[in-house]
Parts: sequence; C-alpha cells; structure tokens
Amino acid sequence: MQETTSSRDGDYAVRRCTPEDIPSVINVNAVTLPEHYSDYFYYEILKDFPSTFLIAENGGRVAGYIMCRMEYGLSMTRRFGLAKKGHIISVAVLREYRGRGVGTKLIREALEEVRKENGKECYLEVRITNEGAIELYKRLGFKVTSTLHGYYKDGESAYTMALSL
Ligand SMILES: CC(C)(COP(=O)(O)OP(=O)(O)OC[C@H]1O[C@@H](n2cnc3c(N)ncnc32)[C@H](O)[C@@H]1OP(=O)(O)O)[C@@H](O)C(=O)NCCC(=O)NCCS
Repeated sequence: MQETTSSRDGDYAVRRCTPEDIPSVINVNAVTLPEHYSDYFYYEILKDFPSTFLIAENGGRVAGYIMCRMEYGLSMTRRFGLAKKGHIISVAVLREYRGRGVGTKLIREALEEVRKENGKECYLEVRITNEGAIELYKRLGFKVTSTLHGYYKDGESAYTMALSL
C-alpha cells in the first residue's frame, strides 16, 4: 500500500507506519490530542496490527497518523450478532496540515485495510464537543451508535460512531 495524494501545498504519501516512525507519531499525538499512551502501547499496536497503522508523510515529515485494532465482539451496526471490527484507537493530523484531506485519506485507507482483514464494520470514540472530527466521520458514513457518559479522564462524554463495511 503506497498512495500519494496531491494538494496545493505538496504531496502526502500514506504508507504503513514503521518502528522508526513511532517517535514522530508520538509527537503528533502529544501536540494534537489530550489522550496519550505509553511508548510501549504504540509499538505493541504496530506489532499486532501493522496493516491498519498508517502515517501521512509530507516532505519526509510525519503530518498525521491513524492506528487501529482489530476486535471481535458485538456488532455495532446490526441489532444482533457478533462481528469482526476495526477499532480506530487514534487519528490525528498536525494543525498546519489540516483541512487538506489528509485526515480523510488516512481514514479511507485504514478502512480499506480493515476490509482486507475481513473486518465487517469499523468504530471509534469521539469527544461529543469535537465537531470537526464528528463532521468528518459523518461524511465518511459513520453514524452515532451510543453515548459513553464521562468516558474521558476529564469527565467529558464520548459518542461511539460506527460504519458498516
Ligand atoms: C480530525 C482531524 C484528524 C481531521 O484531519 P484533517 O486532515 O483536517 O481532515 P480533512 O482535511 O480530511 O477534513 C475533511 C472534513 O472534515 C471536516 N472537518 C475537519 N476539521 C473540521 C473542523 N475543525 N470544523 C468543521 N469541520 C471539520 C470537514 O467536513 C472537512 O471537509 P472540508 O475541508 O471540505 O470542509 C484533525 O482535525 C485533527 O487531527 N484533530 C485533532 C485530533 C482529533 O481530534 N482527532 C480525532 C479524535 S476522535
């Protein structure tokens, strides 16, 4: 998987993350999101789910990333039954690269990889005040499936949003 998106400001290549990219991914996470993870967590996710851990590069710089986990459990898009599903753990784009389709491209590519892993649906949690991200997910076809009250450490609630693949 190696694709390039063109934009006014340059090219964004979306490719699989490597262990060497992890420090840059941790930096993107640190400056964009309040939810941080141990370094170990990133390396473990990369080891266990390499095909759905992607980065967007611009001129050799990591502009954004998406990391997912494949899970098996109750379907979130059908009323009954179990499903293999992709869980988007975290997605972020550095502020200076936003609004150019990088986030959309990362998510689309990850969904394609979840499909290849035989995932039948994909879901995520998002802060209920994160209007930009919620709008982006809706445009990609995700629907709100539940509200997780007080989900985050600071007490804010989350929506779960899911998409059938
Ligand atoms: C959410 C995020 C990944 C989107 O990345 P991006 O590269 O800017 O996304 P795109 O350029 O593909 O945006 C596509 C669409 O999303 C919506 N969108 C994105 N940011 C938005 C904002 N701040 N306000 C309103 N809509 C927004 C718009 O519909 C946009 O389409 P448009 O550019 O035609 O208006 C990025 O804003 C980010 O890293 N935010 C901080 C981290 C975060 O909140 N991650 C999600 C946690 S669940």
